[in-house]
Amino acid sequence: MCGIVGYIGKRDAAPILMEGLHRLEYRGYDSAGIALAHAGELRLAKCKGRVRELERLLPSRFKGSPGIAHTRWATHGEPSDRNAHPHCDAANRIAVIHNGIIENAAALRARLESTGVVFRSETDSEVLAHLIAAMPEHSLDEAVRAALRLVTGTYGLAVLDAARPEAIVAARNGSPVVLGIGEREMFVASDAAALVRHTRSVVYLDDGELAVVRADGFETATLDGGPTAKIPSRITWTSEAFDKGEYTHFMSKEIAEQPEAVGRTLSGRLDKRFQTTHLGGIELAAHELLDIRRVKILGCGSAYIAGSIGAHLIEQLARLPAHAEPASEFRYRNPVIERDTLYIAVSQSGETFDTLAAVQEVKRKGGRVLGVVNVVGSTIARECGRGIYLHAGPEVAVVSTKTFTCTAVAFALLAIHLGRIRDLSTADGGRLLTALAALPEQISDIIAREDEIARLAEQLAGCEHAYFVGRSAGYAVAMEGALKLKEVSYLHAEAYSAAELKHGPLALISPETPTVAVVPRDDLYGKNISTIEEIRARRGPVFAVTHAGEMPVMVDAAFVVPASEPELDPILLNIPLQLLAYHVALRKGCDVDKPRNLAKSVTVE
Ligand code: F6R
Repeated sequence: MCGIVGYIGKRDAAPILMEGLHRLEYRGYDSAGIALAHAGELRLAKCKGRVRELERLLPSRFKGSPGIAHTRWATHGEPSDRNAHPHCDAANRIAVIHNGIIENAAALRARLESTGVVFRSETDSEVLAHLIAAMPEHSLDEAVRAALRLVTGTYGLAVLDAARPEAIVAARNGSPVVLGIGEREMFVASDAAALVRHTRSVVYLDDGELAVVRADGFETATLDGGPTAKIPSRITWTSEAFDKGEYTHFMSKEIAEQPEAVGRTLSGRLDKRFQTTHLGGIELAAHELLDIRRVKILGCGSAYIAGSIGAHLIEQLARLPAHAEPASEFRYRNPVIERDTLYIAVSQSGETFDTLAAVQEVKRKGGRVLGVVNVVGSTIARECGRGIYLHAGPEVAVVSTKTFTCTAVAFALLAIHLGRIRDLSTADGGRLLTALAALPEQISDIIAREDEIARLAEQLAGCEHAYFVGRSAGYAVAMEGALKLKEVSYLHAEAYSAAELKHGPLALISPETPTVAVVPRDDLYGKNISTIEEIRARRGPVFAVTHAGEMPVMVDAAFVVPASEPELDPILLNIPLQLLAYHVALRKGCDVDKPRNLAKSVTVE
């Protein structure tokens, strides 16, 4: 979603800001803009479209510092040149870039208009620039603070005053802001991805904090002005991790990276001595884990689906009732929070608003929550305070692939941990640890057979609709397969529990509607075969993702996945479905890394 980048220091801001905007492109956006302070005046450029179009628009001598720049993902007002950020006050002195939503924008706008202010955009964000300009306070930070006291809503923002170029002011409430500390220069961003080329030392603002950022340092304070203390942390991601390298798309790069990514999720966490797992970050002692009676997993989209696989793993291995629920629904049903339930928030980015709101609801009611998160230092990770980091490396493609797999692996680690302090035997612990250690190589084997999937994709790409079916955890695999396909190829794909098919959806099976069936050789194999028979009887084409061995039913194509232990099979069964979505999208000429209407982290409701 929207991206913020700011620079203050001796260098020219424009090249740094433009490079930062390119780094933020992966979040999804529809317009971009930049403002620089130069000789007491503001220099501004913004347009609808891509960052490279903004680049073309910049005059050759577009110089100045400090500067702020933005990628916008439309919420209030269509994507257009005038709705692009930065937004300025009437005197063109103050420039504001804003992520989030100002909920009382209409009232503030009416109030400002009644004093003669003329608005130049339809955005909620523009009110900020006029409000700040209208404040009688002496310093920029005081004016921003006074303006924010009138605002209801969420924001991550950066403000520049061309007449007072000694500082940028940044503030946060519900939308991330990170400060990058350089050598006599400072950076502001909504995402560390924009900073990795310049610095590894960062400070994350907390909600309700405001920062005055100068070239030689920064101060933070609450909205009331009380100073806050910050300890810089280090980013471990390298800038190369954000490059495509030899790959055409980040999606294919990230699918291919899964063996190493899974290796990192597992690294240092397999305890052969006690046939269990080490998860230092969960910060719950064995006796506390023993008190848990139930597990509730919350996440959105692929994170929710990975959580569903997690729920199966926890229920099977730890024999604890476990259930995954979309975080986006959770807080609206006044959920009952139980003392002996362990709540787990799942989020790759750690910034998804709905998931964060669910975490806050659990905490508000006294519940205990762990995070399963990829981005270190992200809002959800910090809000949870404990959990499991995926260490998958940055995921740049809008759709989740490697983090889905690593999340499922992290849940396997947790399920073994919970199981081994309950009834999971040493032998079962050992069996699962061996299988986990084998996953990276098995994933490599599947990826090496990408051509087989590409051929299968050829057949699917011509269809308009597809079903994905599976049972139990295989149903979660089907859900993820269908989600991935619709996200990147825009092909209408629906997932059904194989058992539910005959209760309605079977009516739509026809020779034009293929079904992708997830058919592991487990206890439910026979039942899955019956489902395939039912589909075949209606002349529906079937593509099976299965294990080796002759199938007792004819299918149109089958992709054979190496067998793991039955509990871990879903992790491997999902990999070919990622490749399938990728290749269908390629065949259909879709923008794989930036699917229409989607953003990488959904930081609004
Ligand atoms: C699917 C996808 C989305 C995200 C969802 C949650 O490919 O990328 O469904 O999984 O928006 O995002 P995170 O995990 O960042 O909370």
